[in-house]
Amino acid sequence: MERRGRVQGKVAIVTGAGSTPGPGIGTGKASAVVLAREGARVLLVDMYPERAEQTRRLIVDEGGRAEVFAGDLTRSADAEAMVRAASDAFGPLDILVNNIGRAQVGTVVDTTEEAWDQAMDINLRTAFLASKFAVPAMAGHGGGSIVNVASISALRGDGTVAYSAAKGAMVAMTVDMAYSHGRQGIRVNAVAPGHITTPMVLSVSAPGPKADFMNQMRSEAGLLGTPGDGWDVGWAVGFLASDEARWITGAVLPVESGVLSVTPLMMAPHLRAVPEP
Ligand SMILES: NC(=O)c1ccc[n+]([C@@H]2O[C@H](COP(=O)([O-])OP(=O)(O)OC[C@H]3O[C@@H](n4cnc5c(N)ncnc54)[C@H](O)[C@@H]3O)[C@@H](O)[C@H]2O)c1
Repeated sequence: MERRGRVQGKVAIVTGAGSTPGPGIGTGKASAVVLAREGARVLLVDMYPERAEQTRRLIVDEGGRAEVFAGDLTRSADAEAMVRAASDAFGPLDILVNNIGRAQVGTVVDTTEEAWDQAMDINLRTAFLASKFAVPAMAGHGGGSIVNVASISALRGDGTVAYSAAKGAMVAMTVDMAYSHGRQGIRVNAVAPGHITTPMVLSVSAPGPKADFMNQMRSEAGLLGTPGDGWDVGWAVGFLASDEARWITGAVLPVESGVLSVTPLMMAPHLRAVPEP
């Protein structure tokens, strides 16, 4: 029997579907590949089209279908053109993954007004604009699924005030959109990745002992003690986008090895419950 994927025949847009150059895979790139492997035709959107082209090649080499759309989604015209491009290339839109984002370190005191606005533009405005044009397109043919890539920074402090505020607003936007568009058959959910390792994360610290320590901490901080990466987010996105999640909307799915489930104190080695070998 021919295998039918979880999103077989669906039309999907993934924003930020390229990946910062470097080892590993970004969450947008992984989400796009997972959706394509599960049978979707995917529009790969990125302001650096050469990045999205690498994702396209990966998908096409595996026998999937994808096209690249070059655009800056902080611009309304690009967001509108993106939604049109998806339906021109593949047909009516079913799935939107709002994945664009970038963390900025800074407290409320040392974050400049310019950096604040930039964080809101990249992390929030892009999702707002993409959704603004995607929702009517989905509603026009009976519904669809939107997955927002938020962060545990929406829920826990980590010294990135503008980024955290934007991701917190994204969570609020998720539940409000779920409320407003449920009766149009549109489900809206978010994933909240934890301290995963992606090329973007690796690009901000030079290789060396400090980077090695941070990598180790990204694993150790979670209950599982293992590293997470872009694929972990991609698989969660694939599930929420699919009809297997048909009765799930307004949810925020943590993808974080359980870091939200424990107080930091209990992660101290001598307190942690470690089973006897
Ligand atoms: N890496 C982590 O540890 C982590 C943790 C929590 C959440 N996240 C979230 O995951 C998402 C992706 O992270 P990543 O590490 O894969 O990043 P990445 O930089 O590898 O990928 C994001 C892509 O978005 C593109 N992009 C940026 N601004 C754009 C714009 N205005 N218009 C169009 N494209 C644009 C970039 O060119 C890039 O290719 C972000 O939303 C991030 O906040 C990441």
